[in-house]
Amino acid sequence: MRLSEQPLFSEETIQARVRELAAEISLDYAGKPLVLVSVLKGAAVFASDLLRSLVIPAELEFLRAKSYAGTQSAGTILLHHVPGEELKNKDVLLIEDILDTGETIAAVLEKLRAHKPVSLAVCVLLDKPHRRAADISARYTGFRLNPRTSSDELFVVGYGLDYDEAYRGLRAIYTLHETR
Ligand code: XMP
Ligand code: MG
Repeated sequence: MRLSEQPLFSEETIQARVRELAAEISLDYAGKPLVLVSVLKGAAVFASDLLRSLVIPAELEFLRAKSYAGTQSAGTILLHHVPGEELKNKDVLLIEDILDTGETIAAVLEKLRAHKPVSLAVCVLLDKPHRRAADISARYTGFRLNPRTSSDELFVVGYGLDYDEAYRGLRAIYTLHETR
């Protein structure tokens, strides 16, 4: 596998969009007890940038979801360290790196809902709408990935996103391609 030479989204483009999302979230949740719940590991970079761009106070929680091996879905979603009491009487915003089939977010939302937050919404950095299987939509979306811009199915890495644990530290987002 090899990385695209040019980033799909540059560091500047990502940072500008994160600030826009944070401004929107800051307006919508002003005066509310907001908790960001970040899905590990992929969304950790996005969540920390987003948190620092908010101009309202917010708490930060993490949970671990694992569903992928390589670029293929492993089918089952394992959730660990799901916050509970921390969400009671709070407005919860779930932060995820990519909304793909939606199965991960569907599983996470079901768990979080059981803890009776005041509200529960989703914020994703990236969305692959053409891949959706579960009936999930995000209130806040950074960028939509359009499959027609690429000959093969788009797999992206960087800014927290990995391929077998590599590339998470890249500041921009790149596409990954088969080496032929
Ligand atoms: P589902 O299908 O449950 O998947 O919505 C969401 C999870 O799948 C991973 N994923 C990707 N990871 N590049 C990645 O690095 C991608 O292009 C990609 N597409 C899906 C990701 O972990 C996400 O949380
Ligand atoms: Mg992930």
